[in-house]
Amino acid sequence: MTTILQYLDPLLFAVLPYVALFTFFLMTIQRYRAATFTYSSLSSQFLENRRHFWGMVPFHYGILLVLTGHVLGLLIPDRILAWNSHPLRLYTLEITGLALGLLALVGLVSLLLRRIGTSNVRVVTSPADWILHALLLLQVGSGVYLAVFHPWGSSWYAAAAAPYLWSIVKLQPQLGFISAAPLAVKLHVTGAFLLVALFPFTRLVHILVVPNPYLWRKPQVVRWYR
Ligand code: HEM
Ligand code: HEM
Repeated sequence: MTTILQYLDPLLFAVLPYVALFTFFLMTIQRYRAATFTYSSLSSQFLENRRHFWGMVPFHYGILLVLTGHVLGLLIPDRILAWNSHPLRLYTLEITGLALGLLALVGLVSLLLRRIGTSNVRVVTSPADWILHALLLLQVGSGVYLAVFHPWGSSWYAAAAAPYLWSIVKLQPQLGFISAAPLAVKLHVTGAFLLVALFPFTRLVHILVVPNPYLWRKPQVVRWYR
């Protein structure tokens, strides 16, 4: 089993990243040029509002802060390592990351249950939506698993995962870290590349439509004129 997986390493971690990045840039630009008005996440709030709120809000705040943490680990790994050199600061960062990951997970599960359980929302859910929600569940679930069972992720992310990701950017993939990594890490990283590849084909494109006041605007009020 381990051997088969090791054979897959070059494919998953040296080829897939470039296929994903190529697809991302090409198709994102192509979709913007060909179908600009599809650049959104079509709202289903007017079909069901209560579960929508309790899923959408925790999921977005959780995932946006977690992804900010991921980007900081990539951009300033030395400062993250320096911050973590004191145990109390390390625990604070790890617990904050885990809490935000759980917030995103609870929000996502509730969004998924809403789509499955509310018939008029289910009807407007496309195959791409199902795939995206399933992939996000795998990604957020495996992230929380890493945070719990592979401590101290913020440190090894900065020390080992960030150099691997930079080696991809520099077009010289170094597979040392990833080949030796546990299965859960490989799953999490593969999930990230799949999300990048599927980005232009899903509602994830709404992330690019900024400035976007939705996160802080007042809840929408829908009125019926009879
Ligand atoms: C730039 C920050 C972001 C803003 C302003 C934003 C805003 C929105 C809005 C307005 C909706 C539609 C809400 C509705 O149904 O009325 C939405 C839905 C969604 N967003 Fe975001 N978003 C952001 C980032 C993200 C990120 C980083 C992800 C995932 C990695 C994400 C995943 C989703 C998903 C999956 C849905 C559909 C949820 C459902 O209806 O089941 N968003 N977002
Ligand atoms: C190749 C890119 C990625 C790498 C190397 C990576 C690595 C990691 C690591 C090491 C952790 C554990 C952090 C800790 O214990 O404090 C983690 C957690 C997490 N990741 Fe990722 N990740 C990647 C991409 C993503 C993406 C694209 C998403 C979501 C769309 C995501 C969502 C999460 C979540 C929700 C957590 C749990 C919360 C946390 O501990 O910060 N990751 N990731």
